[in-house]
Amino acid sequence: MALTVSLGEGGTPLVPAPRLSERLGCDVWLKWEGANPTGSFKDRGMAVAVSRAVERGAPGVVCASTGNTAASAAAYAARAGLPAVIVLPAGAVARGKLAQAVAAGAELREVDGSFEDAHMLARRLAEVEGWVNVNSINPDRIEGQASAAREIAEQLGGVPDAVALPYGGGGNTCAYARGFAEIGGAMPRLLAVQPADRAGTFASAIRIADPVHRERAESVAEVVTAAEDEIAEWWRAVAQTEGLFCEPASAASLAGVARVRPEGRVVCVLTGTGLKDPDAVERL
Ligand code: F0G
Repeated sequence: MALTVSLGEGGTPLVPAPRLSERLGCDVWLKWEGANPTGSFKDRGMAVAVSRAVERGAPGVVCASTGNTAASAAAYAARAGLPAVIVLPAGAVARGKLAQAVAAGAELREVDGSFEDAHMLARRLAEVEGWVNVNSINPDRIEGQASAAREIAEQLGGVPDAVALPYGGGGNTCAYARGFAEIGGAMPRLLAVQPADRAGTFASAIRIADPVHRERAESVAEVVTAAEDEIAEWWRAVAQTEGLFCEPASAASLAGVARVRPEGRVVCVLTGTGLKDPDAVERL
């Protein structure tokens, strides 16, 4: 698909993880989505959503975010020459992500409330202003993010036995299910890993109490719940044994694999880079 607005997203490394494989008793591979232009998987979907917004002549884009969608929407809107309004839960967004959105010139609005409150306001703003909402309720986002599943199958020379990914709002879970369904053949076992404390987790990217894609996500994936300490433990492990510094939310994928112990080739999606959230390092 030729995209009007692209920053070279996708084509991220799939890294074998021999030490984690030994610890987890399966063949672990890490899909390093931190290598995307703004440092998270959101870029795959944002390239499609912002390209379509431009093609439709939209006056601007709007979204709510725990941070990565904000950074990505701000960058792709800047690239497209469109204004972006981003609604954030006040005090709950990692510093690096805020810096990215500010640097790209987005207009930030903080709400005294949860991600859900921000999401509601972003939907309303889109309706009132006629701007395009680029949250994952926009199907263009899901279409773009589905490319990761095809990439993994190409990199492995076939679909893996299982794929684990962090479960926030569930859009990415739906995107992987769609991507693997489009390949045809056997579906991998999908593990959607959520924090036990959804509303208060230190993994701020997935601090989402009420997932907007719950119904679909939970029909295509097994939900696994990981405690805060487990997420922190595997976050440390991936950095200290394999050398990839992801953000805390990303390590939920490994925490899920440690709980469920799937067999065969298992891909853990590391959804974003740890450089975005320097304050979280206190938990290392
Ligand atoms: N990992 C990271 C690093 C994320 O930023 C997110 C979601 C997820 C996993 C979960 O993906 O919501 O599709 O299930 N971040 C959104 C944001 C909510 O605003 O950046 P999901």
